[in-house]
Amino acid sequence: MVLTVVPHRIYMLTPPSTGGLWQTAAAIRTRGRDLPADEVRGTLTDIVLQVDRAADVVDQVRSFARDNSTAPRQSVCLVELVQTALSLTEARLRSTGAEVVVDVAEGLCCLGWPDRLAQVLVIVLTNAREALERRGRQRHNIGAPGPAGWQPRIAVSAGRGSEQTVTLAVSDNGDGIPQDVLARVFEPFFTTKPTGEGTGLGLAVARDLIDMHNGSITVESRPGLGSTFTLILPTADAQD
Ligand SMILES: Nc1ncnc2c1ncn2[C@@H]1O[C@H](COP(=O)(O)OP(=O)(O)OP(=O)(O)O)[C@@H](O)[C@H]1O
Ligand SMILES: [Mg+2]
Repeated sequence: MVLTVVPHRIYMLTPPSTGGLWQTAAAIRTRGRDLPADEVRGTLTDIVLQVDRAADVVDQVRSFARDNSTAPRQSVCLVELVQTALSLTEARLRSTGAEVVVDVAEGLCCLGWPDRLAQVLVIVLTNAREALERRGRQRHNIGAPGPAGWQPRIAVSAGRGSEQTVTLAVSDNGDGIPQDVLARVFEPFFTTKPTGEGTGLGLAVARDLIDMHNGSITVESRPGLGSTFTLILPTADAQD
């Protein structure tokens, strides 16, 4: 179902103002010399952004298709998993000034594919960062300091679940998720970002990857105050 939507989606990613990626590129090729340099530069920037977005969609969709790999699952230690995901996201996280608190005990491990689990965490951490940025912007826009001492914060914690599961939770104190949105966040292509900015595939891919682990991913949120995404994963000694 997702694959059939993709060509349409890539088309939609091109803003109507540019008249379509190919037409615009063709116009620059044939009339480029007659157009003001600023206009050409602006349009080329648009084209680069749209191509990047199209590449994102294709990457995300590939993740859906990768589930026929024969690589066996292995024991994945959560401390290392979290470190890997944080190292992949830390540059952008740092720019928000967010405090990142990690509370993951050594020795907690699950059964899985490390790269897929890291991908899930990167998706969730990226959304958390964006939620912090939105809350920061809201505060800025209304010119109010907001709740006294609000400090952007992400907390990653892990623990034992039932006998054969571990839990891994990522909390943020970003803008939170309204009730009507909460019901839809895992839908493919659902996004609250402005048109053309998000693929809306992040959490759909995350859920798909977690399903492959026979695990679960759930969300709780307090609108305006923050959200928590919780993964439940089988332990290394779990029986399928
Ligand atoms: N931590 C969060 N805080 C607030 N809203 C969130 C959070 N995580 C997800 N959401 C909401 O869920 C929606 C879907 O998230 P998802 O990652 O699937 O797509 P996206 O972030 O909109 O787009 P993309 O991941 O392609 O950039 C987001 O648009 C946002 O409204
Ligand atoms: Mg996302």
